[in-house]
Amino acid sequence: MSVPHVVITRRLPARTLAPLEAVASVDVGPSEGWPREELRARVTGADAIISQLTDRIGGEIIDAAPSLKVIANVAVGYDNIDLAAARARNIIVTNTPDVLTNAVAEFTWALILAVTRRVAEGDRLVRRGAWKGWALDFMPGMELAGKQLGIIGRGRIGRAVAQKAAAFGMRVVFAKHDVSFDELLVGSDIISIHTPLSDGTRHLIDRKALVRMKRSAYLINTSRGPVVDEEALAWALDQGLLAGAALDVYEREPDVHSALLTHENVVLAPHLGSATRETRTAMADLAVRNVVEVLAGRPPVTPVS
Ligand code: GLV
Repeated sequence: MSVPHVVITRRLPARTLAPLEAVASVDVGPSEGWPREELRARVTGADAIISQLTDRIGGEIIDAAPSLKVIANVAVGYDNIDLAAARARNIIVTNTPDVLTNAVAEFTWALILAVTRRVAEGDRLVRRGAWKGWALDFMPGMELAGKQLGIIGRGRIGRAVAQKAAAFGMRVVFAKHDVSFDELLVGSDIISIHTPLSDGTRHLIDRKALVRMKRSAYLINTSRGPVVDEEALAWALDQGLLAGAALDVYEREPDVHSALLTHENVVLAPHLGSATRETRTAMADLAVRNVVEVLAGRPPVTPVS
């Protein structure tokens, strides 16, 4: 039997590749990925593709790879993969759940604290030499204790964020479990989004949703950018309809809606939710394990449902 061939769209931590190199020939792309046409040409002989969330694995890539058996995404989200096209060819798709749950939950709290206590805004102020000294009424934020955290999405990450809320004395409600979506919008002081991107969640937070929020409330998004209508969010911030927002994900990464850049009460992170050394290595390891299992004729560890 010939040696299976694995295309890895972008560089992975070097030591994670060893188990794969023992059983397959491996073609690894540069950190920034190959141009689309080149990716299409390179997958021609692939039995497996290891992709990242910045790679769109659409029907044309899948069609170009007649022996493809598995697409292993190094991410928990897999909206970048055409699942229908994969399913039509019985190609297995896997993701990297669990290993990143804690890292994303910790980062969500970093954003909640950063925006409510004005950390990034204060840092900018100090750096531009605008700090005049301590004053009782200077840069007050919002205290978390006793407030309501509304979580949209009751998956692993949403639940991990909820677990950490006890440390801050916050009350937690989940949309559609404890309260309706509208009740969550109306009653929460912090709203944090932890739902996958799908046709059902695209622009879930639109103008209609934003006007329902308390004017003192903050919106946090560490899920996928298109769940929030950025144009609507910029409008709501202009109108003072909410106190602030903290975003890790955007509709057209790496572009950020220009109006969001002008608001001091918005924290903008460059998609870092799972970015700890521990977790990023574990994600790469898990994607590699998924491919090794499928190439050996065994079930994958973490197939997407
Ligand atoms: C990151 O955004 C992921 O889906 O893993």
